[in-house]
Amino acid sequence: MSEHTVTITDNKTGKQLELPVRQSTQGPCAVDIGRFYREMGFFTYDPGFLSTASCQSALTYLDGEQGMLMYRGYPIEQLAERSNFLEVAYMMLNSELPDRQQLDEFTDIITCHSMLNETLNRLFNGFHHDAHPMAIMVGVVGSLSAFYHDSTDINNLDHREIAAHRLIAKMPTIAAASYKHSIGEPQVYPDNSLSYTGNLLHMMFSVPCENYEVDPIAEKALDLIFILHMDHEQNASTSTVRLAGSSHANPFACIASGIAALWGPAHGGANEAVLNMLNEIGDVSNVPRFIARAKDKSDSFRLMGFGHRVYKNYDPRARIIREMCHEVLAKLGDGNDPLFELALRLEEIALNDEYFIARKLYPNVDFYSGLIYRALGIPANMFTVMFAIARTVGWVAQWQEMIGEDNQRIGRPRQLYVGPIRRDYVEISQR
Ligand code: ACO
Repeated sequence: MSEHTVTITDNKTGKQLELPVRQSTQGPCAVDIGRFYREMGFFTYDPGFLSTASCQSALTYLDGEQGMLMYRGYPIEQLAERSNFLEVAYMMLNSELPDRQQLDEFTDIITCHSMLNETLNRLFNGFHHDAHPMAIMVGVVGSLSAFYHDSTDINNLDHREIAAHRLIAKMPTIAAASYKHSIGEPQVYPDNSLSYTGNLLHMMFSVPCENYEVDPIAEKALDLIFILHMDHEQNASTSTVRLAGSSHANPFACIASGIAALWGPAHGGANEAVLNMLNEIGDVSNVPRFIARAKDKSDSFRLMGFGHRVYKNYDPRARIIREMCHEVLAKLGDGNDPLFELALRLEEIALNDEYFIARKLYPNVDFYSGLIYRALGIPANMFTVMFAIARTVGWVAQWQEMIGEDNQRIGRPRQLYVGPIRRDYVEISQR
């Protein structure tokens, strides 16, 4: 069969260019425009990357129309039901699911890297007492390269692997320490007898003067949320990590840049914004007023936790998390969380509203995750931090995939220049 190509014609000059189409294993193929500028003298213009594949990847596939998400081919529903966070993390980093011995070894490695270099602990005290934990995360994760410079040579396979393990292992410790700093409590050291999420809960909620027992429901709920948040192909923060990594910046710096990008309310900050919004709405009777505001183009208010760049169908993660929300609230609360009732009603009204139907706006993963976090006693300013812990696996796997490519090049987008044409400098006295 002949090669699949697309021919572009410049209707001004009649010049034609035949471009190869790169085949995907699933989903849309991509026209390879690598020689487009050289041959035609144009750039392509696609702000927000609506039609542009910035890389090729074998990690995550999502079909927004079908509401489908898979990690390395495994449907998210199966992983959520049958696997656990560290097993999925292993699979993302190593391509295949581990056998028992591989999983035990990986779990041991992650567990035994959970402590922070003791001098790093001092860094936390430099932050203002009411600093947002995400601000602390950006700073502390970025600083890891100053403490672990024995794993920053990106051309060394062992360094890359150790850095990956350190990042995944230390994120919960850094997250919990950020939280403890923000509430003025002493940092708690990790306990290697606990699971990944159990340890996080222990470091966040135990105090030196009391015994703390990890609640298995909380541990399980967090593990599930972490699987669902692990990776999501080339989203804003992952693309940021790849772009930073393309210049051969060290992995700790790259992940810090991902955390910064994740913080925005249009991305990972949405779960915090959802809870703020639900509190602001306050009562079911106010829902119609807020729906009207969300539809009003002169009002900047948007229904937080609704809509997604890629999902134009129900976000499969939101469906799983909605079920977990029922389970957690039934077991940990009295089952009657007014904000959950409000969220369900809001969803029902929005899903039947022509504005949301026409634009295919459905609840996304963050619509319900904040309610679970709240039921677990996790404060709103830690929601995005939770997201960052889980997404670190995806960032690291994407970074490793990119660095391991043959002919990996620095990411350097071009632009459509619309500024002034050449003009001469005018002395200040003449302006
Ligand atoms: N509430 C009301 N209207 C909305 C919403 C919303 N949440 N989301 C999109 N729209 C409308 C837009 O106004 C636009 O309407 P128009 O066609 O009449 O102009 C249309 O739907 C398309 O919206 P865009 O902004 O073009 O969609 P885009 O793909 O650029 O944005 C985004 C996606 C950022 C997620 C958006 O839906 C949004 O802001 N949602 C709320 C924030 C949120 O929940 N973010 C979490 C994303 S998931 C994640 O990061 C884990």
